[in-house]
Amino acid sequence: MYNCILEAKNITKSYIKNKKILDNINLKLEKGKTLGIVGESGSGKSTLLRILCGLEKSDSGQILFKKQDITSLKGENLRIHRKNIQMIFQDSLSAFHPRIKAWQAITEPIRNYNHFSKYELKSKAIELFNCVNLPLELLENYPNQMSGGQRQRLAIARALALEPQILLCDEATSALDVRIQAQIIKLLADIQRQRNLSIIFVCHDLALVKSISHNIIVMNSGHVVEYLSSDNLITQVNDEYTKSLLNASFFINY
Ligand SMILES: Nc1ncnc2c1ncn2[C@@H]1O[C@H](COP(=O)(O)OP(=O)(O)OP(=O)(O)O)[C@@H](O)[C@H]1O
Ligand SMILES: [Mg+2]
Repeated sequence: MYNCILEAKNITKSYIKNKKILDNINLKLEKGKTLGIVGESGSGKSTLLRILCGLEKSDSGQILFKKQDITSLKGENLRIHRKNIQMIFQDSLSAFHPRIKAWQAITEPIRNYNHFSKYELKSKAIELFNCVNLPLELLENYPNQMSGGQRQRLAIARALALEPQILLCDEATSALDVRIQAQIIKLLADIQRQRNLSIIFVCHDLALVKSISHNIIVMNSGHVVEYLSSDNLITQVNDEYTKSLLNASFFINY
């Protein structure tokens, strides 16, 4: 049975009058599955994710989390809801405070919601480190004392700290080399299976998106131009823009 955890209906956003960055966007995310979003630079992918996790407001449209409209949540209800949807960004170095140690950084979201002792927070940090396969000797390191791949694991650990139901990944692997990218993708897929996590994975590279996603939407200039399932991606493509993305992507990767 199709179990939709997040739905966006007719989302529209403009920053400047008469210039729609997002124009009537509709999408559905299935529980425990990954929805990939591809589209060239400036097509509105990050704006859409920021709206989905409540960092920004849309001009119109609705976002339904488990069929409940979250667009109008305010105050304490919004604060409690924020735990459900967490985001991971591309630039992991700027996502962390340079003078906060790794274990403190990943338990910061927990401190915002609970009164845990230092001992409890440290044990939570160890649990999270194990979940993302980070060596425990890095617990006391600062973010700049870690490699890009380790820091991205740290970002995933922090996003998982509040046990969200949805993870939004905005170019979360794009800054990493191909081998580390593959490790992070595998890690996300493993965590997804363990926790029945739902993921939205934004990336320029259609081949990479295909490797992790169950369904894919293609965005161009603020519109969804195609909705595909990843298993028969090549035979389904109708839109000329998607064809050009496919060609570019396979040209680079094969
Ligand atoms: N805060 C803002 N104020 C004004 N314009 C913005 C703002 N944020 C984004 N934009 C504009 O919205 C458009 C979409 O930007 P967005 O960052 O969503 O694209 P993207 O698809 O994520 O691109 P990329 O692949 O390069 O990350 C761009 O034209 C951008 O300049
Ligand atoms: Mg972006």
